[in-house]
Amino acid sequence: MRISTDFLVIGSGLSGLIFALKASEYGTVSLLSKDEITEGATFYAQGGIAAVLDEKDSIKDHVKDTVNAGAGLCRKDVAEEICSEGPRLVRELINNYGVNFSRNNGEIDLGLEGGHTKRRVLHAEDRTGYEIETKLVDAVKKESNINIFENHVAINLFVDNNVCIGAYALDKKSNQINNFQATITTLATGGAGKVFLVTSNPDVCTGDGIAMAYRAGAKIINMEFTQFHPTSLYHPHAKAFLITEAMRGEGAKLIDKNGKRFMSKYHPKKELAPRDIVSRSIDAELKTTGEDCVFLDITHKNPSFVKDRFPTIYERCLTYGIDITVQPIPVVPAAHYLIGGVKATTTGQTNVKNLLAIGEVSCTGFHGANRLASNSLLEALVCANKAAKFGAILCMNTGAPTKQPFPYWDPGMAEDPDEMVIVKQNWDEIRRFMWNYVGIVRSDNRLIRAANRLEVVMKEINQFYWDFKIHPHLLDLRNLAQVAELIIRCARGRRESRGVHYSIDHTKKSDSLYNTELQISMVDKVPLNGKFVE
Ligand code: FAD
Ligand code: SIN
Repeated sequence: MRISTDFLVIGSGLSGLIFALKASEYGTVSLLSKDEITEGATFYAQGGIAAVLDEKDSIKDHVKDTVNAGAGLCRKDVAEEICSEGPRLVRELINNYGVNFSRNNGEIDLGLEGGHTKRRVLHAEDRTGYEIETKLVDAVKKESNINIFENHVAINLFVDNNVCIGAYALDKKSNQINNFQATITTLATGGAGKVFLVTSNPDVCTGDGIAMAYRAGAKIINMEFTQFHPTSLYHPHAKAFLITEAMRGEGAKLIDKNGKRFMSKYHPKKELAPRDIVSRSIDAELKTTGEDCVFLDITHKNPSFVKDRFPTIYERCLTYGIDITVQPIPVVPAAHYLIGGVKATTTGQTNVKNLLAIGEVSCTGFHGANRLASNSLLEALVCANKAAKFGAILCMNTGAPTKQPFPYWDPGMAEDPDEMVIVKQNWDEIRRFMWNYVGIVRSDNRLIRAANRLEVVMKEINQFYWDFKIHPHLLDLRNLAQVAELIIRCARGRRESRGVHYSIDHTKKSDSLYNTELQISMVDKVPLNGKFVE
């Protein structure tokens, strides 16, 4: 099937939904989602969205905290732009889309999180993402100009002469590959936490947008900066369950198995130190003691406060037999957020014409080398708004969608019964060596080992990709491997420790500031529509 549209939006998290809503005022929108429309990191966001609403707070302070956390690599102009736009746009979430943030005596309740010097985190109890995502999905479903394509996995962008004219997408229900021809294509595909064995991210976060953009010639930057969240639940049956940083903001303490606090050894701000420091401190504790986890203790707080403020976490932990009002919570760090990504401006522009990138898939320079808590939803909100305005102008200037249709995908490949075994084996292998060798603490040797392992695995995946019929799991795996390769290459290129990138062989910050940037060479360029290119 060939679908022609003004705007193709790949991804239906906060950034994709806002872009779709705003762009639909100017033209037709096709909104793709890899799974059900709500599935993505946004849905699971807990702590909240940072914006200056308190009169004792200021944009200047928000920018300062952002830049301080960013370890020298934040773009201050970008931080000023995003922090300034935040208050107006969060009010729009409340007034235009009915998002209900928690209130205290009628006033919005502002939370505190690591690295923030003021209370400025709007939240809906501990299920902020659920509240935002479901309200925006309701709004999108009411827009006649927006067509929603759930369970459609974008496979590759189609780029001609450095102009993006759409994408191929696999309809998981019918197994058909459709051509989406678009004047403007917007990547809003989120992050890539699934590259690591332990992650807070849902299954859809396999870095597809970054891999697709890279194959299409877009510049990819700063992939070494993977942010590890200090506290995800440690339990054999718990898959990817975060314990929000807001709990430390409300006074929860990190303790070892003997009940002893340890953060004062590492940073004067203790539990509220920047996230990279807390994650590394826990990692160091685990390595020194040989224990499997540390504990987060909020039992000193009134149980009714804990249940009201953190109902989702309370309920979920209870299902694993942990009553957080009387027991400390076993926690470990987990891969959480990809700071690097497709190089983009705050209006989403990439180096490929008519291809925009917004939200976690993009890298605008806002987070520098270490993201401040709750600044990700803020960036997604602000940049999606700005990109939709920019995209509308670009669309008008470019004219009607897709003058030249691009070729249909050639599905002429055989099925292979062994496929799933190989996919599963490679999937497990990549995630394990990325965790062990490219995790919270890195070294030159570990990175070399990871690169060597990846080379073998990528050969196998590529052979499979070209020889056999594609399958959603194979697409995920291929993208995951590509993203792993970009992370390793960027990490090897950064010969210093900065922000979330820490190497035992280069423990100091270098005097010079630089971004790591990768772009596919013409020699490596792969055909974008399967085995047989017309
Ligand atoms: P997402 O919300 O991840 O959406 C990505 C979308 O892309 C999904 O719809 C997915 O289906 C789609 N997609 C992906 N690949 C394809 C493909 N190939 N084809 C079609 N569709 C595709 N940040 C904060 O600021 N505050 C918080 O409190 C917070 N809490 C968090 C808690 C958790 C558990 C996690 C995982 C993250 C949290 N973050 C938080 C980070 C934040 O949620 C994300 O960075 C943000 O939601 C990203 O939004 P997004 O729109 O870019 O992507
Ligand atoms: C959290 O709730 O701890 C996550 C906040 C974030 O990732 O910004």
